[in-house]
Amino acid sequence: MVDYTGPSRVLIAPMMDWTDRHCRYLMRLLSPSAFLYTEMVTAAAIHHGDADRFLRFNDEEHPLALQLGGSNPDWMASATAKANEYGYDEININVGCPSDKVQSGQFGACLMATPDVVADCYQAMVCETDIPVTVKTRIGIDDQDSREFLTAFVERLVSAGCRKFVVHARIAMLEGLSPKDNRTIPPLNYERVYRLKRDFPDPEIIINGGLVDFAQVDEVLQHVDGAMIGRQAYQQPYFLAELEHHFNPDWTLPDRADIVAQMLPYVESVLAGGESLGRVTRHMLGLYAGQPGARAWRRYLSQHSYLDGAGSEVLSGALAAMPVAAEEDSQPDDRYR
Ligand SMILES: Cc1cc2nc3c(=O)[nH]c(=O)nc-3n(C[C@H](O)[C@H](O)[C@H](O)COP(=O)(O)O)c2cc1C
Repeated sequence: MVDYTGPSRVLIAPMMDWTDRHCRYLMRLLSPSAFLYTEMVTAAAIHHGDADRFLRFNDEEHPLALQLGGSNPDWMASATAKANEYGYDEININVGCPSDKVQSGQFGACLMATPDVVADCYQAMVCETDIPVTVKTRIGIDDQDSREFLTAFVERLVSAGCRKFVVHARIAMLEGLSPKDNRTIPPLNYERVYRLKRDFPDPEIIINGGLVDFAQVDEVLQHVDGAMIGRQAYQQPYFLAELEHHFNPDWTLPDRADIVAQMLPYVESVLAGGESLGRVTRHMLGLYAGQPGARAWRRYLSQHSYLDGAGSEVLSGALAAMPVAAEEDSQPDDRYR
């Protein structure tokens, strides 16, 4: 087993519409040490809009990185200056998103073709903060699928001063594939990332893409500095607790009902702030994934969380609905497979 060496070895991926602050609060209960990332926020939204709406988070979420999308160094710098006041632990530049919308804004994965632009952003950002500025990228784009292409990109950023890279171990196809397909169709190439680490021993290299069990995480950590987990962490959040316990056996593994109980005060505070129950419970649907009664849990939460006046009693109701329905659950939970 790989030695447990602190928070940066397991990281939870930035995921739009998924890893909001409510989700991150839940993930922190499940994993005291994982490094969390926000959803991507565009620098333009922070620069022009209601920055507090995009930047506020709960103290419990540390260590936490803000992921920024953008390619205008002035806006990236201005967003960084605002983020700096909120006390994030890292600011990460998105060089991995392939969506049409992001490409039309000329940021995300298409920036791999213009490392100077990313380096300009990096340099403008580090003038505004002492927080580490990092980059999340792919191994290539379109027909630029070579060790040399990735090396040249990373080399440029290392010479600008960047000391941490998260690498999603597949290329992005900028035309013809949806963002979802871009997370499954281009094949994973972990070897390319391992090679990158051998070529750049100094900066931290974090691998991402397709990690779903302990054996894989142990294996990749033999080669790189950290493992970032995306869909598996969201769809089966209890995996995070098991992973934490795997690396940190002194940490007592809570059972799922303990986690639900620990969410109750948080849910109350969210409701008191005027948000609806469903904003939180939507991230808890997968908590019992693979367990007897998982469907009843999900069904109860989905049906009751959005009713007028729904409060935290919905969570106890969902737990109570499970044992009865567990008998009916002859099939394993397969919602996300
Ligand atoms: C719903 C969803 C939203 C995502 N949003 C972002 C994002 O905002 N920024 C980003 O860098 N990657 C985003 N990603 C990609 C993930 O961070 C990660 O790179 C990808 O899912 C591969 O890791 P996995 O196989 O562990 O899921 C998103 C992925 C999903 C499933």
